[in-house]
Amino acid sequence: MTELALFGGAKTREAAYPAWPPHDERDIEAVTEVVRSGNWGGFPYPGAQTRRFLDAFIALQGGKYAVAVMNGTLTMEVALRAADIGWGDEVIVPAYTFQATASAPMMAGAVPVLVDIDPNTFCIDPAAIEAAITARTRAIIPVHVASQMADMDAIMRIAARHDLIVIEDAAHAHGAVWNGRGAGAIGDFGSFSMQSTKILTAGEGGVLLCQTEEQAWRAASIIDCGRPHDPAGELYTQGGNYRMTELQAALLNVGLERFPAQSAMREELAAYMDEALSELPGIRVLPRDERHQRRAIYCYTFAIEPDDFGATNEPVARALMAEGIPCWSGYEPMYRYDLFQPTQSRLPVPSAFPEYFDYSRLHLPVTERISGETGLWLGEAIFRAGKQGVDDVVAALGKIQSALARDPGLAERIAAQ
Ligand SMILES: Cc1ncc(COP(=O)(O)O)c(C=O)c1O
Repeated sequence: MTELALFGGAKTREAAYPAWPPHDERDIEAVTEVVRSGNWGGFPYPGAQTRRFLDAFIALQGGKYAVAVMNGTLTMEVALRAADIGWGDEVIVPAYTFQATASAPMMAGAVPVLVDIDPNTFCIDPAAIEAAITARTRAIIPVHVASQMADMDAIMRIAARHDLIVIEDAAHAHGAVWNGRGAGAIGDFGSFSMQSTKILTAGEGGVLLCQTEEQAWRAASIIDCGRPHDPAGELYTQGGNYRMTELQAALLNVGLERFPAQSAMREELAAYMDEALSELPGIRVLPRDERHQRRAIYCYTFAIEPDDFGATNEPVARALMAEGIPCWSGYEPMYRYDLFQPTQSRLPVPSAFPEYFDYSRLHLPVTERISGETGLWLGEAIFRAGKQGVDDVVAALGKIQSALARDPGLAERIAAQ
């Protein structure tokens, strides 16, 4: 009998998965060059490194214009403000996402309206968007979660019918392609994060893709203290200093050199993972939508069926981590998210919009099931560790499943750990 590592047995994988981000002399040289140039910051916007990075990012991802920002939260706030969305406007966001997707509209003064997700992608459900539209709705922020993409065809149709702005939260989706177009280059705006865990990173950073020249100069003005960036150089706006620095842009330029090979490796191994997991009972590999032509593997999401697997996602994630597999049971429903609770009392919006901010009222069944029972996320590092990296995940899942089958009380004991 093989004891789970959680209870003192040998780990399935002893070797650490490769660290992120990888770096070498090129990063050191790029940063050194910026240090020597004396132009370290983001003023005047855009600096030479930043311009080079933005052009290369458009070449990678598509879109017409790009603005470099400090992070992938401000990008969304800037997009909303560039589109003149603010106080009292409603912005539809999925309930299954990182806090930033909902806090950005709040920071712009708008009301995030949380809706349910699609069990096949863990991304926003277009039918739920349609059902949440009111006369105050101005925008939708679909999130391309982990390795999946939201159904952008359906979302763009809804947006066109109701005259809504679409801001894609593509913080996880660098390099992803939907129906011939890059993630973030389909909606009116595409928001990317380059924070430490992201698959293109400078430690912190963000890019906002824009479809029109006007959106782009408005956004550039907002991030550059309100200075004019319109073609005539005349229009001042209400802005702040949200500029990316040249040091960040230099690191991103080197990151882009590595990106194609890293992406190709992740994609190839994710396909191998799809096949391997589909052999295991109690596991549901998320179906591939043929329009999602290239996946970006920020994390790899899949679902377990607790009745068949023998436990829900949280104990399985715990047991997997003990086996040496980087994994997570995923986001909580946004309306229960710890990070959100204090803001309820600090912002004036809850009193003005009690129907949206009385989170106890919300009950979104798909989000709750994926969050609390079935959803699992595997770390990106697995997909840079060759086939053995994937084989170890499959072996660990098999080991946990057999242990659960042998011992009906095990799931509870894991949960109590
Ligand atoms: C889905 C999603 N959106 C937005 C962000 C915010 O990005 P940043 O940390 O760069 O502000 C993150 C993560 O950090 C994220 O996971």
